[in-house]
Amino acid sequence: MSSPAAADAATPYGTLPPASPPSTRKPLSLPRLADMHARGEKIAMLTAYDATFAAVADAAGVECLLVGDSLGMVCQGLHSTVGVALETMRYHTESVFRGLHRVQGTAWLIADLPFASYQESREQALRSAAVLMQAGAHMVKLEGGGWTTETVRFLVERGIPVCAHLGLTPQTVHALGGYRVQGKGNEAAALLKQQAHALQDAGAAMLVLEMVPAALAAELTNELRHCATIGIGAGRGTAGQVLVLHDMLGVGLGKMPKFVRNFMADAPGIAQAMQAYVRAVKDGSFPDDQLHAW
Ligand code: KIV
Repeated sequence: MSSPAAADAATPYGTLPPASPPSTRKPLSLPRLADMHARGEKIAMLTAYDATFAAVADAAGVECLLVGDSLGMVCQGLHSTVGVALETMRYHTESVFRGLHRVQGTAWLIADLPFASYQESREQALRSAAVLMQAGAHMVKLEGGGWTTETVRFLVERGIPVCAHLGLTPQTVHALGGYRVQGKGNEAAALLKQQAHALQDAGAAMLVLEMVPAALAAELTNELRHCATIGIGAGRGTAGQVLVLHDMLGVGLGKMPKFVRNFMADAPGIAQAMQAYVRAVKDGSFPDDQLHAW
């Protein structure tokens, strides 16, 4: 009789790594991520949208996988994330979860609550979050500050870990007037800081800071002891980094943001590019502050 691994290798659709023996790595958890943050160990996050890439990223040592609603742009060809449906997020979250499960992966799985799935009421947010958690997410992410604080508190009190997202919030790109840097100038920086502290106080365990000045992101990272900041276009002073998978692999339909590094440029394959990304995040050589000194 053939082993499960041999059966996997024989499949004509065999893009997933074969089922592996129990991993020696421990699954990521909120306490472990908080401990990394407290010790100053950088957290490496990438977006993932399907089973195979999720499994490869996990094996490469990526600690957090984000099923981002950026999938609307990179997978569905939309012009923004505004058109992404909750059902689409559920489908991709389940796919990523299955990929991780298949290889006994250890990554922490975060899924985006898409536009209009949490704005109406805290109850709507809970129903939407439940869909993603039941699809395999460990944590949900939602965009914005101010009014979102009470939604975050409501979800956290009900046992749903939450990642907040400030700075450039793509779901409100039309209100922001485009994909532009946020938190510039004293007033905007003070508001962003106040919102970040309120989100931490409401129980957000992570906070994505997108396209904000590096100095502001570093300052917030030092101040928020119970909420790990994850930067994208926010300099190297954050507790961790995230990139859109397609961007870091150098494939895209449009212009790359200038804070992106193409890790495929010097790698023989995708797994090695992901390993290089993890190394660069951990040793602080990515990102390069000078490339986005907003
Ligand atoms: O949707 C997404 O991929 C994101 C990241 C860019 C942070 O929110």
